Amino acid sequence: MSNLIAPSILAADFANLQRDIEMVNNSEADWFHIDIMDGVFVPNISFGMPVLKAIAKHATKTIDVHLMIVNPDQYIQTFADLGANILTVHYEACTHLHRTIQAIKAAGMKAGVALNPHTPIAVLEDVIEDLDMVCIMSVNPGFGGQSFIENTYKKISQLKHLIDFTASNCQIEIDGGVTNQNANKLIEVGANVLVAGSYVFGSEDPTATIADLKNIIN
Ligand code: DX5
Ligand code: ZN
Repeated sequence: MSNLIAPSILAADFANLQRDIEMVNNSEADWFHIDIMDGVFVPNISFGMPVLKAIAKHATKTIDVHLMIVNPDQYIQTFADLGANILTVHYEACTHLHRTIQAIKAAGMKAGVALNPHTPIAVLEDVIEDLDMVCIMSVNPGFGGQSFIENTYKKISQLKHLIDFTASNCQIEIDGGVTNQNANKLIEVGANVLVAGSYVFGSEDPTATIADLKNIIN
């Protein structure tokens, strides 16, 4: 299984969104990571459906949607219709997580669950076999450009162990504070999808930065 880079569009220039999407299309990046924030689950509002629709019109790669919203269930079909390929909900926002996961799959998408930094891996023991991906938040969700939380490495090992133990087929995505300094170690301990926002779009040459990250992790 090759290791993947998912640039986070949250850090793109929204006044030049088409340019930045084409950059990702033409780069070595694997996925588009799309952060949807509602100002309730997290203390920030990013963008919503019309912007995702515009992104999906131009994106030629997998669209990985990270929902940082309360009550995600009511929007599952909408995100499928908008072109999401992977839909990730937060464990902390789902009272009936098992039902939500099944609904995401029934809508034709891959199902992911994200964990906040304080949420232990063990809460996923009874759903791990139903999941296509677990997103371990390596910052507190809500903002780009925060620093990486070191405890993440331990959580990746624990999750890898759980996945191997249950022989499940689930990807491990890391979201927040990813740079060329931690990318290699994240893969070494078991991650295989790295989200990178400000490190990519804040660099002088985002295409080269993506290529460099891909090179580090493969
Ligand atoms: C944070 C978002 C991340 C964010 C990552 O709540 O989920 O996807 O865009 O940004 P960086 O890479 O700048 O930490
Ligand atoms: Zn995200």
